[in-house]
Amino acid sequence: MTMDINPLHPIFAGGVDGIDLRHPLTPTQVGALENAMDRFAVLVFRGQAIDDDQQLAFSRNFGALEQAIGSSVTTVENRRLGMEFADVSNLGKDNRIMAPDNRQRMFNLGNRLWHSDSSFRPVPSKYSILSGRIVAPSGGNTEFADMRAAYAALDDATKAKIEDLVCEHSLMHSRAQIGFDTYTDEERESFRPVLQPLVRTHPVTGRKSLYLASHAGTIVGWPVPEAKAFLRDLIEHATQREFVYAHEWQANDLVMWDNRTTMHRVRSFDAHTVVRDMRRTTVAGDGVLVAQPELQAAVG
Ligand code: OGA
Ligand code: MN
Repeated sequence: MTMDINPLHPIFAGGVDGIDLRHPLTPTQVGALENAMDRFAVLVFRGQAIDDDQQLAFSRNFGALEQAIGSSVTTVENRRLGMEFADVSNLGKDNRIMAPDNRQRMFNLGNRLWHSDSSFRPVPSKYSILSGRIVAPSGGNTEFADMRAAYAALDDATKAKIEDLVCEHSLMHSRAQIGFDTYTDEERESFRPVLQPLVRTHPVTGRKSLYLASHAGTIVGWPVPEAKAFLRDLIEHATQREFVYAHEWQANDLVMWDNRTTMHRVRSFDAHTVVRDMRRTTVAGDGVLVAQPELQAAVG
């Protein structure tokens, strides 16, 4: 079986055939997939009927995995999946559809806003790997936007203006946009803001990209309303249709994306009557991108 990758969109996203993710990969396959990620930023693998252990094994080929701590309001006791999974389903621990007013569900609705996974962590993630175990029969597409193309399309004055800007990211900033704003003291502490550059350079390709997310709530040194208005303009620019690939899920699709160079969002579906069981593993990034407030405090 030879691996074969074909473009799914004019500028990014590729479909991968000729690989079975139930079995261990060879180093050659892993290298080929990493190269393909650098080029396509989003890879789609159809027909991969994997279980949780197989998803973990596949994901670990690309680095250490993030633990799902500090990324939701779901308590450890209420978790349905293992600690290395982000549960982006509409199911509770009992595998039943969550009630309409369920607090976990309200918080998770933030995934409907354009974002990059874990930009709210001091060390943001590298890849996300999402397995569609049960997909919605209609709706529930996941859309991806190519932040390299979005950056390249900016005019020179804007590129110069944003080159060294640093944004404050927090899950509380994205949730504020959908009116979720009540937290315990413990949650506030775990969601405290981190700093991220607005422009990133890919370590392998050297291509620059916009590092945007709804988690970005302000720009360091800017008045908040001005920062929010500007970030909103940039997200609008970056998510024009020409930069967007919309993934229509089939059962057992696995989609892998580079959080350093893309944003994504899920579209609505009938979450009250239809089961959508999606499980995400997340490959951690290499290190902080800019000095974090507490690190600065520690040295100075
Ligand atoms: C994610 C996410 C999108 C979806 O897994 O990171 O944002 O389609 N989910 O559920
Ligand atoms: Mn996400």
